[in-house]
Amino acid sequence: MEIIRVPRIVRETAYAHRIKGRSVGLVPTMGALHEGHLSLVRRAKQDNDVVVASIFVNPTQFGPNEDFSAYPRDQEGDLHKLESAGTDIVFLPDVQALYPKDFLTSVSVAGLSDKLCGAFRHGHFTGVATIVNKLFNIVRPIRSYFGQKDYQQTVIIRSMVRDLNVDVDVIVCPTVRETDGLAMSSRNAYMNPEQRRASVVLFRTLTAASSVIRNNGGTTAAVNEALHVQLNSEPLLSEVQYAGVYDPETLDALTELQKDNLLAIAVKIGTTRLIDNMLVQR
Ligand code: PAJ
Repeated sequence: MEIIRVPRIVRETAYAHRIKGRSVGLVPTMGALHEGHLSLVRRAKQDNDVVVASIFVNPTQFGPNEDFSAYPRDQEGDLHKLESAGTDIVFLPDVQALYPKDFLTSVSVAGLSDKLCGAFRHGHFTGVATIVNKLFNIVRPIRSYFGQKDYQQTVIIRSMVRDLNVDVDVIVCPTVRETDGLAMSSRNAYMNPEQRRASVVLFRTLTAASSVIRNNGGTTAAVNEALHVQLNSEPLLSEVQYAGVYDPETLDALTELQKDNLLAIAVKIGTTRLIDNMLVQR
């Protein structure tokens, strides 16, 4: 496994593979890797000749009161995990390499970026779209891999790719969960054992709401009721940012259930912000 810190060198290395006819797949991450990230690497390895994984805690997607400096970092552990999952090249840029002081440009996916998580994290998705676009331009992968765990992020990246004619196939992989259902996340490490036990409420809530949708008589009112009853049953929940049933493409709240429905939740347990979602067909 090659470890490359300089954007120009990763660009040249990926180019050398491409002109030899090898397909290059990209897995962007912010590190503190777990099985969710590694599932993307393994899928990329199945689909491509060469897998590039990036580790970059992207400052522009963190708000001023968010956890950029506290975000978990474990470079040595991450490199071992990436190597055993089959990564060929790790791109480990530093902040100055990607955001020199004369940096002026950003990519903003209007509308979609202000909904759901965007309403609570101003500027977050512009930071995400900008860094992902930069990574695409540096590596020029044929395919790139993202987790359904961050569902809104996948919708925004797909829109950016379509709107800006980016020549990358965006592949979305299933959410990997702990045995009790909690979606794996680098931020789960912030919770103490009691909060960790409480955090299963997200999966329990989504599961309860999904059975209301699958039960043919279900209405959005019944789904929202199920969501709130479950969430209210957990005393350690300190805030519910949103919980509802949405259109999977526009991310607008639904007034009537449709064939494809997105259940999505964002809450805080203590100060830890947790999100989860499920796509449910009626
Ligand atoms: P990060 O949170 O490190 O996640 C990197 C990728 O792993 C994302 O596509 C995310 O959806 C996926 N992922 C995280 N947890 C997962 C889980 N439990 N199951 C499946 N996939 C999971 O998302 C980001 O970084 C950043 O916004 C990034 C796209 C790298 C841009 O900076």
